[in-house]
Amino acid sequence: MRSFVFENSTKVYFGTGCVEEHLPALLEGFGRTVMLAYGGGSVKRSGVYGRITAILQKAGKEVVEFSGIMSNPTYAKVLEGAALAKERQVEAILAVGGGSVMDCAKAVSMAAVYQGDVWEDFWLRRGQVDFTPLPLGVVVTMSGTGSECNGGAVVTHEAQKIKTDRDYPQCNPRFALMDPTLTYTVPRDQMLYGGFDALSHVMEIYFSGPDEENVSDDISEALMRGIVRDLRAAAKNPEDYGARSNLMWEAAMAENRIIKLGKELDFQAHMMEHQLSAYTDCCHGAGLAVLHPPYYRAICEKGAVKFARFAVRVWGVSPGGRCEEELARAGVEALADFIRELGLPTTLRQLGMTEQTPLEEIASSVILTSGGYGRLTRDDVLAVFRACF
Ligand code: NZQ
Ligand code: ZN
Repeated sequence: MRSFVFENSTKVYFGTGCVEEHLPALLEGFGRTVMLAYGGGSVKRSGVYGRITAILQKAGKEVVEFSGIMSNPTYAKVLEGAALAKERQVEAILAVGGGSVMDCAKAVSMAAVYQGDVWEDFWLRRGQVDFTPLPLGVVVTMSGTGSECNGGAVVTHEAQKIKTDRDYPQCNPRFALMDPTLTYTVPRDQMLYGGFDALSHVMEIYFSGPDEENVSDDISEALMRGIVRDLRAAAKNPEDYGARSNLMWEAAMAENRIIKLGKELDFQAHMMEHQLSAYTDCCHGAGLAVLHPPYYRAICEKGAVKFARFAVRVWGVSPGGRCEEELARAGVEALADFIRELGLPTTLRQLGMTEQTPLEEIASSVILTSGGYGRLTRDDVLAVFRACF
């Protein structure tokens, strides 16, 4: 194993009924005025909102509602939340939702106490967080991003057409309440997008050095097999508790920093998807499903050792008499078959892009990563976009 420093300060409460069981005690010492952050209304339809506001009221909290957080949250929304937090002297934030709500709440937790422009100083470029953001707790309603167990927040600056991810340990939620049954109401397509996002996170980490056998890759292989198994089961029966609970923890494990230890990391597919999303507002997991096969077809021979292992250990491809490059390509095609089997999108057109979508401009705005096997150029990125248009 290579050298690393590991830190994860989030305390996780996992299982059916964990909100009612643990939130009352967690609210003690969590501030008197609590911002309740949520999205476009699913929490009200599912009844989670009522359950949580009842607990907040019983705890004597003054509740400041911050609602309407959209998928792919914008910097304008972060500023709205920060202004509200300052005006109402919010002392802590409780975010209830998926990745978008949790990410927006993290950015608000910083912007509410920082004097300058958080976009300029912490998202556009990496900054030094030498202050304490507002304390944050989360109730997860959708699995996928793993935002509940890290300090990462992805924010879109609409005018600049930039979507950026930064992970600041100071933004790790203090606590994460993870009740798998809260995810039962997630629409089927969103569940699949979230599951594919988690699979993508593991792949983005796995397909990078080192190539020698290592603990992080071993765990990653188990996680990928699990996500494939559990997504198949949850697609058949959304209320399969075993599958939904596994998916919830697999998504968290993918992004709680554990499998990143000692790894170089790629995240080139994420960089491509983020810019497609910055220009078109496409859904994160859906964009990743479209991009991964053409991206991996372009690079798999350069990372043939790892891609061949992926074919055999994750997809059960029989090595037969095949050489490493052939096996590597078979692994990528097994992934592409799985995407089709689930009915995930496979083209940018299915995500709403047209001849008018400025693919060249988007390609030239994509951050090029250096940790993976491909080291794409801007022309390569454009070629990937065109291959899945
Ligand atoms: O807004 P509401 O009404 O709540 O509806 C949401 C939204 O429409 C709905 N939903 C969530 N829980 C539900 C539910 N509907 C019914 N029942 C429930 N229990 O699902 C829709 C999607 O929610 P969203 O939060 O946008 O999805 P996701 O969790 O995939 O988050 C996507 C965002 O996270 C970023 C993405 O780029 C995107 O902006 N990411 C964050 C990461 C991180 N912080 O570590 C890493 C990821 O790579 C990713 O980039
Ligand atoms: Zn992702």
